[in-house]
Amino acid sequence: MEKIVIIGEEPLQGTIAISGSKNASLPLMAASILTDETITLNNTPNLADIHTMGSVLDSLGVNFDKTRLIDNNQIQLTYKESNRALAEYDLVRKMRASILVLGPLLARKREATVSMPGGCAIGARPVNIHVDALAKLGGEFNLEKGYIKCEAKSGLKGAKIKLPMISVGATENIIMAATLAKGETEISNIAIEPEIIDLIDCLKAMGGKIEIQPDRKVLIQGVDELHGTTHTIIPDRIEVGTYIIAGAITKGELEIKNINFEHIENLLLAFDNLGIDLLKDKDSLKIKESNINKSIELDTKEYPGFPTDLQAQMMVLLSLSKNSSVIRENIFENRFMHVPELNRMGANIEIIGSQATVKPCSGFSGAQVMATDLRASVSLVLASLIAKGETTINRVYHLDRGYEKLEDKLAACGANIKRV
Ligand code: UD1
Repeated sequence: MEKIVIIGEEPLQGTIAISGSKNASLPLMAASILTDETITLNNTPNLADIHTMGSVLDSLGVNFDKTRLIDNNQIQLTYKESNRALAEYDLVRKMRASILVLGPLLARKREATVSMPGGCAIGARPVNIHVDALAKLGGEFNLEKGYIKCEAKSGLKGAKIKLPMISVGATENIIMAATLAKGETEISNIAIEPEIIDLIDCLKAMGGKIEIQPDRKVLIQGVDELHGTTHTIIPDRIEVGTYIIAGAITKGELEIKNINFEHIENLLLAFDNLGIDLLKDKDSLKIKESNINKSIELDTKEYPGFPTDLQAQMMVLLSLSKNSSVIRENIFENRFMHVPELNRMGANIEIIGSQATVKPCSGFSGAQVMATDLRASVSLVLASLIAKGETTINRVYHLDRGYEKLEDKLAACGANIKRV
């Protein structure tokens, strides 16, 4: 099994270009089921999750050409109506976001059978909100042998839906389904992450009639059919945050480019509160050498709040402060699995329930560590970059799910990192 070996204490110097957003790409790929015409996605990151979604779509009759993805970060997806409406367990278990084909399949084929995703390392992660909202559009659901079976024999019909809690995936599934439902759908209490706005922009370019309203509401007038389009995926804001932290902790001179500043205001505020000096330009920034000595309280929250996907990485940064900080994880119930590993490397983090107190530590030292999920893994990479000596990170396949060319990007800026 592959491992990443890092010898720490090298300052990072140079420029890192941010890739396209994984979480924006996945629903956009699923949206290809909504039309017979070709959807071309530019700036798609070449990541394991994108290949998994490609395989799910391929199994449903979508032509997915991966050579362009590998060579040019571009994918072309063309749905050829087939009698396949089944997303198998073997693919769905690899990636929960496979559930995003449920809404488009139901809208297009009036039926769908999708394996029920299991829980995962960070929590139970049920899909009840997806199912209940699609049922309001006319889907009839059954759970059979671990599969969600769903039918809408006479097609989906617009409805007024209030999501019981804010869910990124459920918002995406329902919006995609509603674009082809008969009549008007109003969805309230939606997630408004930049990745959702990107999906809506693409669906509108495909002919969807969608209007975002204030107060987490969206109005959709169903249309008879959608057409193909070419869309460029937004930069990955979690990758931006991760590399800002890498630059701040290694005290080099790192520049990060391909940033959409509108999407990271919440991050910039947290970095500013901590005393990190960032020099912004048009779509890039430089991390100035900063003294991290402040203490902050951080709550992970739905956008525009601080993203849970950056919580693990923030702990490494906060560990270097001369004062204790507090992070409350409000989205997932079990998202502190990186903490024992970070503590083995020298961090001083205490957890009580959903609250972590990150206390000052006297530095990190290299160790053998185990990655448990995507963001946990990258927090271990960050800690290794400043650790004394050598760190070996096992189970690196998690990193390949979400960080494009991670080792290349870091090595090009002077990190001593290799995959063995
Ligand atoms: C998406 C992101 C993930 C991010 C998360 C929260 C993608 C591919 N993944 O995941 O990186 O960490 O948003 O920002 O975009 N919930 C239910 N029932 C449901 C659906 C969700 O109880 O039917 C709960 C979840 O267990 C969780 C919370 O709602 O506690 C938020 O989850 P959700 O926003 O749905 O996350 P994902 O879309 O799975």
